[in-house]
Order: sequence, then C-alpha cells, then structure tokens
Amino acid sequence: METKNLVISFAILYVITGVAIGVGLYYAGYNADHSPAPKMDVFQQLQNEISADNISAYLKHLSSVPHLAGTAQDYEQAVWLHDNFVQSGLDRVVIVPYQVLLSYPNMTQPNIVRLLDDKGVANITTSGKQTPISQPEEFSELAAPNFNAYSGRTGLIESDGLVYAHYGQMEDFEYLESQGIDVSGKIVLARYGASFRANIVDLAQRKGAVGVLLYSDPKDFAKKGRNDIYPDSWWMPGMAVQSGTVYLGNGDPLTPFYPAVESAYRIPESEALLPSIAVQPIGYDEAELLLRAMGGPTAPEQWQGDLEPVYSLGPGFKYGDGWKLEMNMQTANKLVTTYNTIGMLYGQEEPDRYVLVGNHRDAWTLGALDPSSGTACMLEMARTFGKVKQDYNWRPRRSLIFCSWGAEEYGLIGSYEWVEEHAKVLSQRAVAYLNVDIAVEGNYSLWGSGAPLMNKVYLDSSKRIANPSADEVVQGRPTVYETWVHRYPDANHPAKPKVNILGSGSDYTAFMHVLGVPAIDIRYTYEEHTLYETHHLLADIMDVGFLHHRAVTQLWAEVARNLLESVVLPLDLDWYATYLAEQVAGIQSRYGAQLEANNATMNYFQLAVTHFGEAVRDYQTTTLANLDTSDVLAVRRVNDQLMLLERHFIDPHGLPNRPEFNHIVFAPSSSDGYSSSSFSGLTDLLEAVGDQTIVQKPAEWALIQQHLSVIAFYIEAAAKSLSNHI
Ligand SMILES: *[C@@H]1O[C@H](CO)[C@@H](O)[C@H](O)[C@H]1NC(C)=O
Ligand SMILES: *[C@@H]1O[C@H](CO)[C@@H](O)[C@H](O)[C@H]1NC(C)=O
Ligand SMILES: *[C@@H]1O[C@H](CO)[C@@H](O)[C@H](O)[C@H]1NC(C)=O
Ligand SMILES: *[C@@H]1O[C@H](CO)[C@@H](O)[C@H](O)[C@H]1NC(C)=O
Ligand SMILES: *[C@@H]1O[C@H](CO)[C@@H](O)[C@H](O)[C@H]1NC(C)=O
Ligand SMILES: [Zn+2]
Repeated sequence: METKNLVISFAILYVITGVAIGVGLYYAGYNADHSPAPKMDVFQQLQNEISADNISAYLKHLSSVPHLAGTAQDYEQAVWLHDNFVQSGLDRVVIVPYQVLLSYPNMTQPNIVRLLDDKGVANITTSGKQTPISQPEEFSELAAPNFNAYSGRTGLIESDGLVYAHYGQMEDFEYLESQGIDVSGKIVLARYGASFRANIVDLAQRKGAVGVLLYSDPKDFAKKGRNDIYPDSWWMPGMAVQSGTVYLGNGDPLTPFYPAVESAYRIPESEALLPSIAVQPIGYDEAELLLRAMGGPTAPEQWQGDLEPVYSLGPGFKYGDGWKLEMNMQTANKLVTTYNTIGMLYGQEEPDRYVLVGNHRDAWTLGALDPSSGTACMLEMARTFGKVKQDYNWRPRRSLIFCSWGAEEYGLIGSYEWVEEHAKVLSQRAVAYLNVDIAVEGNYSLWGSGAPLMNKVYLDSSKRIANPSADEVVQGRPTVYETWVHRYPDANHPAKPKVNILGSGSDYTAFMHVLGVPAIDIRYTYEEHTLYETHHLLADIMDVGFLHHRAVTQLWAEVARNLLESVVLPLDLDWYATYLAEQVAGIQSRYGAQLEANNATMNYFQLAVTHFGEAVRDYQTTTLANLDTSDVLAVRRVNDQLMLLERHFIDPHGLPNRPEFNHIVFAPSSSDGYSSSSFSGLTDLLEAVGDQTIVQKPAEWALIQQHLSVIAFYIEAAAKSLSNHI
C-alpha cells in the first residue's frame, strides 16, 4: 500500500526494519474414485490448520531482503511464491509478466539537495540515503537511496526560493496565494500526513513550482518528541523518509486502459499522467535545517510543526540575496518486467465462478509490514486450502484464485494490467475480490473497508474468528468482531462496526472501481501510528506469537470459504439498499436546494433508489424465499443475478471528466487518491461549480443534469436486473 494514513510506506530501512484462468474445467474431486465423501467441517479444518509459526517463518524469509518492484529480488520472490503454491497443491500456478514503466534512483549516486550561499558554497547538503541502525537486514546493499518514484526531472534543478506549503493541499496553496506568495519557479517544501503525495505534487506543478521536497514532521510522526524514536520506540527518526509514488494514475503509465502485453502500443511518456517536476523525500532533521534558513512571513499557527525554528513561508532565505536551492536528481523512468504469481484451486460444482484473494508482493525496502505481512498470510492460506483439499479429497464449490501482485507501490500496476487483460472474463465470472495488503500494523482492532454487498459476509465471518488478544477476551469480547465494533462502531449504526468505503490505496481498485467486482480489504491496525517494518518489530513487539496474523488469515480464509461454499451467494442486498437510501438522503439535504434552483432535479435519482429498495424486498420475499435449492438451474439463475448486481453500476464511459473510473456509486476522491466518497462523479461537479448558477455556468450545469440522469438510469437498471422479465 499506499496506506490509509500515509504512515506505513516508509522506505526507512531500519525503522521499517525498518492465464491462466482455467475455463469450465469440471473437476470430479473425491467423487472420481467413487469413495464416499468424508464427513468433515470445512470451516473447522481450515481454521485449525492455519499456523502462526508458519506465517512467522514465511515473513522471515520475505522480509530478509529488499524487494523493490522490477528488481531481481522481486522476481525471486515471485518464483518463491510460485513454488510454494505448487507445493501447497494448487491445481495451476503461473507467473504472468508485463513490461511496464517503473522508476528508480541511481543506486550509487543518490539524489542530493543543497542550499548554496551567495558565493555558491554549500551551506546545507542532504545525505540522500538512510543509515542503517539495528537489524542486520537493514544493511543490505540492495536497498535503494531515498526517492519518490516517477520524479519528473533528472539533472540539476535550481531555484532562488523555497516555499513552505504545509500539507500541500488545495487550501494551503490558496492561502499562500492570498498572502501574495507565488510558488512559480520555486521549490515547495510540504509535509506528509494529509493527502496522497501525488496530489501534492500535482498541485505544486500546476502552480508552477519546479520541484517538491516532501518530509514527515515530528508533529505527525514523532509525537512523543525527538528523543522517543526508533530504535527506542516506534516513532520516526530524523533521517527517515517516506518513499512512494507521485504518479496520479493507476496501472502502467504507458498503456492506460489496456494490458501491457507483448503487442501493446505505448503512449509517449510526455502523454502519461506523470509529473514533469522534480520530487524528493527528505528526513525531518534535514527539513529543519532548511526551515531554519528560510525567510519570508511567519507561517500561521496551524502550519507550525514540532521542529525547532518558527516556520516561515519563504520564498527567500534569511541570510540574504543570492542564495539558491538546488536538487541534483538521478531518478529516472525505465521499462522493466513486473510479475504476478497466480495460483488456482478449481471448484467442484461451479469451477467457472471465481473468488479471488490478493496481496501485492513488492516493497520499497524490506516490507515486513507492507506488504509482506499480508504475503505471509496468503502463503499460509494457500497451504491450508491445499492441505484440506489433499487430506479430505475436498474441493470448494467455486474456484479460488490466489493473486500475488507486482509493482503495486508504483501505482497498483500488476493488478491493473491483469484486470485489464482479463476484464471481460472477470466481469462475467468473478464473485468477489478479497484484498489484504498490510495484514498486521498493530494489535488494537480489525479495520476494514468494503463494498456494501460484502457487508454481511465480512461481519458474519468475523463473528466466527477467535479473538487473538487474551486481554480482549477477558473484557468479554471473545471474537475479533466484538473488539472491532467496540473500537470502531459505525456512527449511524452503532451496533455494527464501521466498514469504510474503498478508496484507491491498494489492489482492490481495478476490481471495484473499474469492473464492479465487490471487494473488501482486511487488516489489523493500531490505535496510534507505528512506523517501522522489521520482522523483529512484528515478532517481538507488535504481535508476539503471530496470533493477530493468524486471526487475519483465519478471517480472510473464512470470508473466502463462505463465498466459495454457500449454495446461494451471501451478498448483502439489504445493506446496499440501506446504503443507497442514506446516501441519496445526504445528497438531497446538502445539495437539493441548489439543484432545484438550477433546473436540476433529484427526483429521478430518489425514485430509482426507492425502486431499488422495493426490488430488493420483492426479491427476498419471492425469488429467494421460494428458491428450491435442489434445482441447480434455479440456483445458478439466482447466483448470476446476485453476482452481476454490482456490475450494473458500471458505466463503460466512465465518470464525468474521469474516464478511468467506471463505478457510478463508488470512486476514489478526485482531490485525494487515498480516500473515497460515494457519488463523487456528481459531488465533484457540484463542488467545482460552487455557488455559480445555471446562467453563469450553463455547460457545467448541463453536465450535472446529464450525470444525474445517468445515475438514475443505472440504479433503475440494477433494480430491474432483480426481476425475472425484461
Ligand atoms: C506449517 O505448519 C505445519 C503444521 O504445523 C507443519 O507441518 C509444516 O511443516 C509447516 N510448513 C511450513 C512451510 O512452515
Ligand atoms: C549511476 O551513477 C554512476 C556514477 O555517476 C554512473 O556511472 C552510472 O552510469 C549511473 N547509473 C545509471 C543507471 O544511470
Ligand atoms: C549556513 O550559513 C549561516 C549564515 O551564514 C551560518 O550561520 C551557518 O553556520 C551555515 N551553516 C553551515 C553548516 O555552514
Ligand atoms: C500489542 O502492541 C503493543 C504495542 O503497541 C505491545 O506493547 C504489546 O505487547 C502488543 N501485544 C501483543 C499481544 O503482542
Ligand atoms: C429552467 O427550466 C424551465 C422549464 O423547463 C425553462 O423554462 C427555463 O428556461 C430553464 N432555465 C434555464 C436557465 O435553463
Ligand atoms: Zn502495500
């Protein structure tokens, strides 16, 4: 990932110490030799088999070496997963290559930032890399120097000014403008912690900046003070940096919408959604030196961080004229091969219906948390399913596909290319996609996101998973569900835990937002921020005994089992209807009057949601209530309707001005790629038009009217798909 709060993708070494889709194969399974089916409880067998020690051993191997996407170590791990999947007894395992555009620093010549005095003598020089501190694996020569992937310029970038832009959000740049501070031709210094870094860079570039320096302020990342940092605690030390991509899109930058297969046409780099300015992360010790040298007006109170000087806005330097800041950049883009490892366990009755589980494999450095904690869990899950299959001659009703994605950190590239390559087949056959990126980043509570249709299967499954925390059990919370609802109750429905809607921080994005395959994301999280990524951190501090890893694996396996084995797909129509009704009411109360005043009506949208609710009720009381589950064709008809329901919200033309996202209900927020909002196709347009009327902005209002009619149409179509006639 790409995480929910930007904390976890630190490339800090120590801190972070740290197709093959078979078609329609009908497998006879245990009936083939006519031996009677053994009596066994699949749930119990899977749960019992999952071993915490195995997960720890897998993680130890994976996090022993840096495995940046596109490197030899990454390929070795792709092969290692392949071999493990084969050994686990999966039916078909393939390594799928794609040639894509990634970005690398120079391993021997780091990117350096220098402040030069009026005689051209360096006053401040950044180190460009992190110094290992404690664990042996931190000292690997394979670890890359500090960089942000896809930084846009190589060579020397010079500027006579540095501007402090707080979190680098739109309102921050607007404030600078209001103070008469122009970032054009300047370098921007911005803090991590409020939005996706690619959005910060995009705004800075649009305002004319020539470079961006990103750092993590101790106010956000060393909250207990600068003496309470790694290795003494889990807070971030002063020369640690957060790596990460500054590409605004998803998937291979040169093959938008299409897979990067051998025959692919590649657009010129200049047409890709990549920044054209230089970007470099620095530690807060170095940011402090720069802030000390800055002149200009004092930054507002809320902009002040925890570094020593009073923060100024810039752009000049306080020691006088003629001082210059330079970035000497080596980061460059390169066409390389990335690999997905795909393993398949064929289903017994419906082998052409797929439940997919996935996790990315690439990491900025050692990746013990992100993503290897999830990779270790997925390996154990594959071993477990394989073991139960072999021991009991069992197969699930539907097919299970394990996906180990490459190059996620650069922009969800491996999963996007694969989904693009298999879009039609997945659209016709995929039941659900279950993502785990970081499995365990703390031991406080489950923290989940997901599609409304997945609500019931997610919650019901979590009610069956024993609580890994003895303390929590003593508090009267025997399962992970009870801790979850206790820690994160849903504000509108406090009897259930909050399941967030899916943004675009991990590999569920192409499934959910492009294809309309309902997805979830699972992890165990912390109460406060944690920062480092070694096996040691997880094994000795955060998850002693790996019991939380086991719980995540058990939950992941149980959600999968439930979707694989239930005769009627356990998709939550009710919750979708409730969710849509709440959302339409929210939009009406916020924008209703404004819409009416500009000749746009919410009526059809509201009516469609009402019809959807009625269709769901009818479906449950007639079709589902009267279903003869021994009638295999009737069951298949119902399951097709359920499986395809989410697909009805997919508009092949995409959202207004955002052809890359197709789901009319859910889309990543357009101002922050990490978060998500519902009906953002509509609300983005409304926010952009502001209080300007239809007379002032006729074209904009026409687009709003058109999109409202599109929303109403697709919701009606989804409702009608639940009836038995056309
Ligand atoms: C996983 O655990 C099982 C059961 O405890 C054990 O037999 C097996 O050797 C372990 N496998 C690996 C790969 O660690
Ligand atoms: C990295 O820098 C070294 C030293 O300047 C240079 O010799 C080498 O060609 C560079 N490598 C790449 C891949 O540009
Ligand atoms: C940078 O310049 C300032 C002003 O001349 C001076 O006080 C400071 O000592 C210099 N720092 C270094 C590391 O040379
Ligand atoms: C949970 O995490 C805290 C650190 O936040 C640690 O002190 C504690 O030992 C952990 N508990 C377990 C059971 O690993
Ligand atoms: C609003 O709709 C009314 C009725 O259709 C129409 O007469 C009027 O011209 C419209 N106003 C604008 C500004 O389009
Ligand atoms: Zn990740």
